Amino acid sequence: MARTVVVSGGGTGIGRAVARRFAADGDQVVVIGRRAEVLERAAKEIGGTALRADLSEPADVERVRDELAERFGGIDVLVNNAGGNVERHGDGGGDVAARWTGNFRANVLTAVLPTEALRDLLNPSGRVVFLTSIAALRGSGGSSYGPMKAALHPYSGDLAAALGPRGITVNVVAPGFIDDTEFFGGTLEEERRAMLVGQTHTGRAGTPQDVAETVHWLASPGAGHITAQIIQVNGGAERGR
Ligand SMILES: NC(=O)c1ccc[n+]([C@@H]2O[C@H](COP(=O)([O-])OP(=O)(O)OC[C@H]3O[C@@H](n4cnc5c(N)ncnc54)[C@H](OP(=O)(O)O)[C@@H]3O)[C@@H](O)[C@H]2O)c1
Repeated sequence: MARTVVVSGGGTGIGRAVARRFAADGDQVVVIGRRAEVLERAAKEIGGTALRADLSEPADVERVRDELAERFGGIDVLVNNAGGNVERHGDGGGDVAARWTGNFRANVLTAVLPTEALRDLLNPSGRVVFLTSIAALRGSGGSSYGPMKAALHPYSGDLAAALGPRGITVNVVAPGFIDDTEFFGGTLEEERRAMLVGQTHTGRAGTPQDVAETVHWLASPGAGHITAQIIQVNGGAERGR
């Protein structure tokens, strides 16, 4: 049966691959992000729905909840994928408080606000998946990105306990280096890329499809007894070489 699947940040990169993967099953997929044009393109490709919103803004999230409730009633799968390292892009500004607040908004609020707003709309046997990062496990070179992603780990565990009685599972997918997304904003130097690939046991960069398949599997009926887990998709890079 077709499910209703909500993918934050579904207009680009990993989120777009996730949206495609569910749409290939005939699911009704809603992609959410801030850039209307990007979202419309992604939604058109998969025959889905585009909802423009800044998910770090409570008013936008309330509007999204009302629209989803009106259009679909319930939600089967919520993929909290929106995020990124705003320090690396420099949008966080120069001071420490601004940099940490920037990554808090970009990675914690974008996941927690929609989850809290939509949890009562989740259907029985629903699925919640958070995208964090290898940086949540081993740090991000002094930036606030890894610590902010790590905040989602205990949050998702508590949520799994709260939603378990409704048959809903809650899991985290923590990718390592994934190519072909907007994450690095075109700033990844060849030397650093080679270093990241060199940390894997598989000898290659991850792809958005690698992550999409893992999210799709966690959302499958067969994964119904997997909850409160952190699944790493990094070719073994967390252990290093
Ligand atoms: N690529 C990697 O190596 C890697 C590794 C580990 C983890 N991750 C994580 O994987 C997730 C997907 O990243 P990606 O690599 O696919 O990068 P990406 O292409 O930059 O995707 C991030 C998406 O999130 C959306 N987004 C960001 N802030 C938002 C906000 N406030 N409200 C709504 N949407 C927002 C962006 O759309 P708009 O800009 O239009 O809003 C964009 O579509 C992120 O959480 C990232 O931290 C990536």
